[in-house]
Amino acid sequence: MIKTMEKTDIKSSVNEIRKDFPILNRKVNGRPLVYFDNAATSQKPSSVINEMRRYFEEYNANVHRVGHALGQEASLAYEQAREKIALFMNAKSSKEIIFTANATESVNLVAWTWGRDNIKENDEIIVSIMEHHSNFICWQQLAKEKKAILKIVDITDSYELDMQQFEQMLSDKTKLVAITSMSNVLGTINPVKKIAELTHKYGAKILVDASQSVVQMKTDVQDFDCDWLVFTGHKICGPTGIGVLYGKYDILKEMPPFMMGGGMITTVSIADSEWEMPPQRFEAGTPRISEAIGLGIAIDYINNLGVDNIRAYEEELTSYMIKQLLEIEGLTIYGPLDMEKRGATIAFSIKGIHPHDLGTLLDELGIAIRIGHHCAMPLHQRLAVDKTMRASLYFYNTFEEIDYFIQSLKKSVKIFQKFL
Ligand SMILES: Cc1ncc(COP(=O)(O)O)c(C=O)c1O
Repeated sequence: MIKTMEKTDIKSSVNEIRKDFPILNRKVNGRPLVYFDNAATSQKPSSVINEMRRYFEEYNANVHRVGHALGQEASLAYEQAREKIALFMNAKSSKEIIFTANATESVNLVAWTWGRDNIKENDEIIVSIMEHHSNFICWQQLAKEKKAILKIVDITDSYELDMQQFEQMLSDKTKLVAITSMSNVLGTINPVKKIAELTHKYGAKILVDASQSVVQMKTDVQDFDCDWLVFTGHKICGPTGIGVLYGKYDILKEMPPFMMGGGMITTVSIADSEWEMPPQRFEAGTPRISEAIGLGIAIDYINNLGVDNIRAYEEELTSYMIKQLLEIEGLTIYGPLDMEKRGATIAFSIKGIHPHDLGTLLDELGIAIRIGHHCAMPLHQRLAVDKTMRASLYFYNTFEEIDYFIQSLKKSVKIFQKFL
């Protein structure tokens, strides 16, 4: 396990960092794995894997209201994970942190509870064209059901959120703005603090989807002043099956339950039931104990590296990769070229070559990138492309891997260009 990082230490320690991730040792098709699909899911450090194993081997028990030693240990670890996450995102209290299955469930929770209670006919919901489906479909369907209006903020020619259009869309009819802090395709960083400030001027609420930014930029819910923020654990070195919903406590306590069952009630009688206060109100049934504990350890790992250090290193990697990609004839990058305005996700296409063909050739060379619409079909329709290739970098990637990727990409392009 690497020691606490000094500023900009990641570049010089990347080989040490890589040793924390056992999977990075493996070969694919006889070649060392080059994993550039981090926007889909990140790899897991041994500390996360080991603690989850330790939970099952040493203190596996159900949580909450358990008298015995194992139950108390498990409850403590589960609640400590909640505390760590609250601190990580600067929430006022761990009571504002709800464990869900993933970001998708977190958004659904808000849509099915607050959304159904508060969105009425002719109300307006604003989302952006760059949303992941998980922060799009819920609002689209809610708007349909309630006869509300879904407004969609466009992007500019430089792939940034059109803030001018956003401001024009806001009105007293706006009830909710649901926006990503970083696009999982364009890599665009959105000014969530400014968006929240404008949204609140109209008395509307704002939900931020921080699934991509959470490991690349500081998440400070008090500074953002967002009403809800969601992210998914598996993109931040945690396991799958765990997500987070942050909500301002005053809002959470007015929201009805999402799912009903054990653990979320104070009393149940034949006639009726009463709900626990948040966060328990929203964690019906046996929660995701090992996954929450694993996520807590992942947060320790990220804190140890330092989000600012991660950002600095990934910026260098991204700019190095973009510079070389732009030298390839016929290649289009969909996303801002200004490093301050983007994260480490690079979507691109190459004229005349089908993304799937390239993806298959790269896979044969041990390189994992993603091909498709990346759960952002409305964005791809806006970009007038069916599919893009997406290479997404992480703090354990190296400049050498980028060199190998670029060489392999150029070789593959040459092969296909022969047939054009
Ligand atoms: C921006 C963004 N939001 C939400 C999600 C959904 O995450 P999950 O599938 O874990 O719920 C993703 C996953 O790709 C994402 O990139």
